[in-house]
Amino acid sequence: MTATFYATTPIFYVNAEPHIGHAYTTILVDVAARYHRLAGDDVRFLTGTDEHGEKIAKAAEAAGTTPQAYVDQVSQQFRDTWDRLGITYDGFIRTTESRHQKIVQDVLQRVYDQGDIIYGEYGGLYCVKCERYYTEKELEDGKCPQHDLEPEYRSEANYFFRMEKYRPWLKEQLETNPNLIRPEGYRNEVLAMLREPIGDLSISRPKERVPWGIPLPWDEDHVTYVWFDALLNYWSDLESQGLDDRYWPHVQHFIAKDILKPHGVFWPTMLKAAGIPLFQHLNVHGYWLVEDRKMSKSVGNVVRPLELEQRYGNDAFRYFLLRDMSFGLDASFHELGLAERINADLANDLGNLLNRTLGMLGKYRSGVVPSFGPLTAEDEALRDAFTSLPNAVMREVEGLHFDRALAMVMEAVAAANKYVSDQKPWELAKDEAQSERLDTVLRGCLEALRCASILLDPVMPGKMQELRAQIGVSGDVILDDASHWERLEAGSATEPGEPLFPRVDLEALKATMDVAGGSEEASEAAAPALEHKPEITIDDFAKLELRVGTITAAEDHPNADRLWVLTVQVGPETRTVVSGIKAHYTAEQLVGTTVILVANLAPVKLRGVLSQGMILAAEDAEGNLSLAGLDRSLPDGSEVR
Ligand code: MSP
Repeated sequence: MTATFYATTPIFYVNAEPHIGHAYTTILVDVAARYHRLAGDDVRFLTGTDEHGEKIAKAAEAAGTTPQAYVDQVSQQFRDTWDRLGITYDGFIRTTESRHQKIVQDVLQRVYDQGDIIYGEYGGLYCVKCERYYTEKELEDGKCPQHDLEPEYRSEANYFFRMEKYRPWLKEQLETNPNLIRPEGYRNEVLAMLREPIGDLSISRPKERVPWGIPLPWDEDHVTYVWFDALLNYWSDLESQGLDDRYWPHVQHFIAKDILKPHGVFWPTMLKAAGIPLFQHLNVHGYWLVEDRKMSKSVGNVVRPLELEQRYGNDAFRYFLLRDMSFGLDASFHELGLAERINADLANDLGNLLNRTLGMLGKYRSGVVPSFGPLTAEDEALRDAFTSLPNAVMREVEGLHFDRALAMVMEAVAAANKYVSDQKPWELAKDEAQSERLDTVLRGCLEALRCASILLDPVMPGKMQELRAQIGVSGDVILDDASHWERLEAGSATEPGEPLFPRVDLEALKATMDVAGGSEEASEAAAPALEHKPEITIDDFAKLELRVGTITAAEDHPNADRLWVLTVQVGPETRTVVSGIKAHYTAEQLVGTTVILVANLAPVKLRGVLSQGMILAAEDAEGNLSLAGLDRSLPDGSEVR
């Protein structure tokens, strides 16, 4: 029997470009959708953009354009990003589409007609960025916990949805259905909110103040409050296409903890009032922090997914996101962690299994897939380690333990590498009498790779297809193929290609970080006393070759925003130096400046550009920089001793 899977991401506000947090939820749902498709389920995956409301109108104004032109452009930017990240959404909804607006108005009218919307006056503390009122209790030090901003007091005559009336009902739903909101911690948070009155929800804004919204069907002077409008996207996309009977009974929402209240309190009560059945699950994940800090434009630590996709490849990036966050908990993003994960799991474990298997197959069997001989206990153990995985992986995916699902597959890959080391095909190859045994071992490795490629396909669709092409498998695969061991065709040819996951040069990456991000670390670590390095001798110092140079050009680095590519004239020599001083000096300030160059530093590639030396600068505890120079003029190339 085919199961049905309907999953949604939040529809993202179009007042900012997509960042790693938006990408995470969307990739997560994409991965879940792909696993379900692989299992043969009937899948629908919905995402989209949230385009009405005060802050969008303000962003358009700031951009000097009309709201419609602005939302068209940013919504397209989200779609373009999702295309680059391999997102296979089935539906993309925009709240400015007429199909959505019509359904919002229908629902509003229905709820109004049954007496669940009333007119009244309300005053309270409002955060424009969240587009909602906060109770005193929800604030942290008087500020909105999401934005660290003081909310403003607002009082308005609005229409109110009688949300409080549905509080006992919602409480009961949560108490009788422990999986409605998962993981449990978030369910408990919502239950705690429901212990006290939740009040009624203001669902309109006066049109004269906020014209950018859906007009209330019975009062043209008011537009619909953005959350009442936005939440209905999950339903309107289906209903507008006659897909509600097929998918609505299976709906699961995926969100992060920031929007738990609108989804855990507003949305279920809205559904109840509108006579629409409740969702199956509200799945709530944690936040990606960046180097342990909250990501924000003002801190300047916003991580752009396309930069990482470009630097490390989409598949490796997707793998990292899923492997390194435990659903429900916060995780901290650090580029070095991403690189280490790629090296350990993808380049070392998986890449190595592929390379050594194809290498040996080429050497001993001309690259042709051999037949299995009789299986030993070790061969069977390898087989069972893989063929038992599809069910186990699907169980973890359904339970939202994506990290565990990937860890399980990687454990099997590690077991396959150990199997190679234990069986020693290179020894078997020396003895003609062991020919059938060698065939069996090599074939086992190929089958292990085939199974791994299927199990990892939803996370790394591009690379896993490449892997299969290298072992001679073409065409579509299904999850069940990974439950069977003898699926390759004996006698078919393998096609070794480029390594799937090139190793990331960690030293070079660390060097760019030291150059580019050093100032930040230094300012944080600044202690009142000077921290000295171990003592050196005059001989140690004599190893340094320091020379006077003149910067003759400063150009943008092709792969890194924070780096300059400098041309430095050192006597008769012209050097290229990649330097992380971009935040401190403009090109105009640099060209013509005399600098001190470490001239005998081993050249190193920094984000793809060869750097031949380093220029010296002084830095204070606040991260202010000043280039080291000379107090009177001496020719380029002079040595500094
Ligand atoms: N438009 C509303 C949602 C309406 S849904 C009916 C909204 N938009 S948003 O652009 O602010 O997106 C919030 C969502 O983006 C989070 O719930 C989460 O899915 C994702 N993330 C934003 N920042 C994030 C992190 N730092 N970490 C993980 N995900 C985060 O709220």
